[in-house]
Amino acid sequence: MRLTVIGTGYLGATHAAAMAELGFQVLGVDVDPTKIERLQQGDLPFHEPGLPDLLRKHTSSGRLRFTTSFEEAGAFGDVHFIAVGTPQRSGEHGADMTYVDAAVTELARAIRKDSLIVGKSTVPVGTARRLQALVAEEAAPGLSVDLAWNPEFLREGYAVEDTLHPDRLVVGVDSFKAESVLREVYAYALDRGTPFISTDFETSELVKVAANAFLATKISFINAFSEVTEVVGGDIRTLADAIGYDARIGRRFLNAGVGFGGGCLPKDIRALQARVSELGLDRTMSFLNEIDEVNLRRRDRTVYLVEEMFGSLDNVRVAVLGTAFKPNSDDVRDSPALDIAARLFSAGAEVAVYDPEANQNSAKRFPRLTYCSSLVEAVTEAEVVLVLTEWDEFKRLTPESISDLVSGKRIIDGRNILSADRWQDAGWMFRGLGRRVEVEAPILSA
Ligand code: UGA
Repeated sequence: MRLTVIGTGYLGATHAAAMAELGFQVLGVDVDPTKIERLQQGDLPFHEPGLPDLLRKHTSSGRLRFTTSFEEAGAFGDVHFIAVGTPQRSGEHGADMTYVDAAVTELARAIRKDSLIVGKSTVPVGTARRLQALVAEEAAPGLSVDLAWNPEFLREGYAVEDTLHPDRLVVGVDSFKAESVLREVYAYALDRGTPFISTDFETSELVKVAANAFLATKISFINAFSEVTEVVGGDIRTLADAIGYDARIGRRFLNAGVGFGGGCLPKDIRALQARVSELGLDRTMSFLNEIDEVNLRRRDRTVYLVEEMFGSLDNVRVAVLGTAFKPNSDDVRDSPALDIAARLFSAGAEVAVYDPEANQNSAKRFPRLTYCSSLVEAVTEAEVVLVLTEWDEFKRLTPESISDLVSGKRIIDGRNILSADRWQDAGWMFRGLGRRVEVEAPILSA
């Protein structure tokens, strides 16, 4: 069985390399010739642990190739995965379906043999059924071109592991044949006992957005309690630990801090609301508005904590540690960390930024921040240090290692990864999101 993967971003490139690892002949397709050229040379255009090795292994073995040609894809593949983006439409909450529609149309026209198109992109409910009609219209007469939806649950930073060893497989199908092809594609995971949920198109589309909406809700739930503990005193981490011991609640995704970002959770909760409103259910998902707002207020709060320290931010030297939306990624799409850095800059601060992987992507969005090649460079002469992405390097940060470098001992822990006691004992003013403000040691400014 030969596979194609249309769209070679975080999702598609990972899926293509993982399928090659499982023994399939795979052709990756993208409209961006520069990206395709790099991938063909085994050069991954983004940061994803473990993926560069897999990509090199299979571009060398010849099992994985890349092209910009839909004609080539249509002649090559028995199964075609659609993995193009569905970003938020500019100025609106709904998902931009341009890329999915274009990919499916062009592919359907180019297909030269009986085949199955499998959508993996996150889409508004109703899309698969609409695309099924589109494929029937566009595919050459006489060919059997089937459609299925197979949402993807991989997390950036763990993409390879999540693709090779998913915790469940969900397929939305309209024929036994489509299901049996997908069982063959995923035989490796199925042999290892991975739950396989075969359902209709609509359920499969909804499963994906329901999962992301639930995760976003968990994060904003704990962050809403942060707003309370910040006023009444208390420690949000202890609260999360204590409720997390209840197996019905669970501790995961209850880490309070600057909130969620990335290319999925924020736009998916907005697109879900937009889609459900279109269906006439205006109030049904309106709680997701609150989830979004709680999330965005964490960014306001972080900026406020700096303002509170200095009054005016004019020329205040700020060090921002971390701009990626989460560790082990160079992705800065809707990153709370980068947004906070940019807002501090707009308010007059001098902002020195260091992220182990995301400096380059951050600089493309906000070229006027000062990008540093190390933590030491970023904190030198800083009047306040903000830790905004929980990279291991920042979890290990100690007051001893930077006290002599900064010009003011002030730190804000935006991810609840540092020990307040330890920093306060070393004479630092410490602020954490959702954390009790202890009696201060005097602030030592140079
Ligand atoms: C998310 C889902 O977790 C994946 O299952 C899904 O496949 C993917 O979206 C997608 O739709 O493609 P991802 O965007 O890679 O994956 O990132 P997450 O690990 O979910 O983190 C999202 C954001 O939430 C990050 O900014 C992270 O820092 C934040 N977060 C996460 C918290 O603030 N607190 C937590 O406890 C957990």
